[in-house]
Amino acid sequence: MGHDAKSEKTKRVCIVGASGKLGRYMIEHALERGYEVVGVCRASSVGKLSEVADRITIVPGATNDPDVIAEAVAGCDAVLTVLVPYGVRDYSSGTAQAVMDHAPEHARLIFSCGWHITRDGEDEYSRMFLAIVAVAGWLARLFRYVDLDDQVEACRRIFASDRRWTVVRGSDLEEGPSQGLPAWSSHVQDPILANNMTRRTDFALFMVAAIEDDALIQKAPAISGVSGSSEP
Ligand SMILES: NC(=O)c1ccc[n+]([C@@H]2O[C@H](COP(=O)([O-])OP(=O)(O)OC[C@H]3O[C@@H](n4cnc5c(N)ncnc54)[C@H](OP(=O)(O)O)[C@@H]3O)[C@@H](O)[C@H]2O)c1
Repeated sequence: MGHDAKSEKTKRVCIVGASGKLGRYMIEHALERGYEVVGVCRASSVGKLSEVADRITIVPGATNDPDVIAEAVAGCDAVLTVLVPYGVRDYSSGTAQAVMDHAPEHARLIFSCGWHITRDGEDEYSRMFLAIVAVAGWLARLFRYVDLDDQVEACRRIFASDRRWTVVRGSDLEEGPSQGLPAWSSHVQDPILANNMTRRTDFALFMVAAIEDDALIQKAPAISGVSGSSEP
């Protein structure tokens, strides 16, 4: 005994925002673990998934479209969502809401965002960090490019939900080969995160590993790679 029938089945995992950089790394890690993968991306971005098109199911459409998400998450055991607040039409909160409304009850729901999101207000940021977020956020909204407040709203709704969620808060990101699973802490000022740099592939690795890590349920881990960016 011990294992129920469900845990022995291949897990079906939906990746929302599959065609972006983080999404494509998540597809790689999920396939490596033997998961069945369903990817959601804008119709215009389907071509970015050509290398894996024969190994995954692709559902084209806007990630905040409830019908698109309902189709994609049906039968999934986990949904990994790239939260990016593009435009000024509540794209991020709409995406999070659609996932929470339609994912099966038992599913692990794992969302990505940045360090600027705080769950309990106990994160301590440098003045430089706060200034960058304020200025970049203001400029991005002015040009109707990105609405950081909408990512905050998306996370507020996730934190308030009783679903089996994890919000993974990424440090600064860089490309490069894996350095292994990033360190994490509940608050960004933890010295373990002092490096403030994560390889994008390892951010994706953390998101995929969280599917099996029940200790991360209803947590908002801030993550950072453990060694510096000078690695090859
Ligand atoms: N970039 C950073 O330095 C940084 C730092 C910390 C945390 N994060 C977090 O990491 C995650 C991934 O960020 P990333 O910068 O690496 O981006 P990314 O993985 O390249 O993902 C960008 C996503 O946004 C979509 N997108 C782009 N333009 C869009 C538009 N006009 N309308 C709708 N969707 C659009 C992309 O879809 P298409 O393929 O269709 O374009 C893709 O799914 C995010 O949750 C972010 O908050 C990023």
